[in-house]
Amino acid sequence: MKHITVLKNEAIHYLHIKPNGIYVDGTLGGAGHSKCILEQLNQGFLFAFDQDQFAIDYAKQVLKDFARFEIIKSNFRYLKSELEKRQIKEIDGLLLDLGLSSFQIDDESRGFTYLKDTTLDMRMDQSQELTAETIVNTYSLDELAKIFYVYGEEKNSFKIARKIIDQRPLHTTMDLVKICDQVNYKEKGHSSKRVFQALRIAVNDELHVLEDVLKDAVSMLKPDGRLVVITFHSLEDRIVKHFFRDESEVDPILKKLPMVTEDSSKTEVLTRKPIYPSDEEMEQNPRSKSAKLRALRKK
Ligand SMILES: C[S@@+](CC[C@H](N)C(=O)[O-])C[C@H]1O[C@@H](n2cnc3c(N)ncnc32)[C@H](O)[C@@H]1O
Repeated sequence: MKHITVLKNEAIHYLHIKPNGIYVDGTLGGAGHSKCILEQLNQGFLFAFDQDQFAIDYAKQVLKDFARFEIIKSNFRYLKSELEKRQIKEIDGLLLDLGLSSFQIDDESRGFTYLKDTTLDMRMDQSQELTAETIVNTYSLDELAKIFYVYGEEKNSFKIARKIIDQRPLHTTMDLVKICDQVNYKEKGHSSKRVFQALRIAVNDELHVLEDVLKDAVSMLKPDGRLVVITFHSLEDRIVKHFFRDESEVDPILKKLPMVTEDSSKTEVLTRKPIYPSDEEMEQNPRSKSAKLRALRKK
């Protein structure tokens, strides 16, 4: 299935693109957002990151008529060092459209789906060593239970971890689905949804890379620069929400000093509440249903 870009107009609106600005798309994917950014740049430049070679090859085709961009095959966690290598110290905006593209979810060989019997892989970066198979077959009971509980909010995390250990080695997605079915047999939705989400987050270290990039991005934003983040589950959204809140708060010590006003905060949250896809978008693209967009502006 083709990847349909989520919250396209909203993301571009909040990026508030300056035609001569330096922009970063941290999650190139099918290049839907990148293309919109490039359409608005006449003297500016776009750096687009993706860690998935398939996404990069696909995006090159989508962007073949544009010139003012460079694709960087890297985790966006290395945003700062990759840009510094290119003598870029400041940016006008960063967009993150987190998670997976439909290409990755639908490609059975990548092992992201619990609906097909395939290898337990789940790597976004095919050159990375750690796979889901390694995690389920080598991590301790406590480590596995913690991953399922913290990254999947799975209430039966310990029982599932116990069964995995008893039934090792596991090789395929269905080996894992069978275990989740046995434990979560009362579940209304799919028994394995939370466990698969948790493993995917662990394999790709998704929450830590997000924390890393948010800090670096804010430090690199020019005045009036924008940080726009689209998340797809509550764990990611919580990180973004708290980060934005902390960044835009006036330092409590400074607050007590005379002459220091609210304006002494360095950033401003542009989205008091998260922005959701419209009913029409959700109907056309059911995968957009869990999306939330938040935006921050550097003062
Ligand atoms: C939801 S898709 C982006 C779709 C894109 N905005 C579009 O409109 O086509 C997310 C993409 O970001 C990539 N990605 C996710 N996390 C990443 C990370 N930490 N570093 C680099 N790329 C990442 C994935 O490989 C995937 O291709």
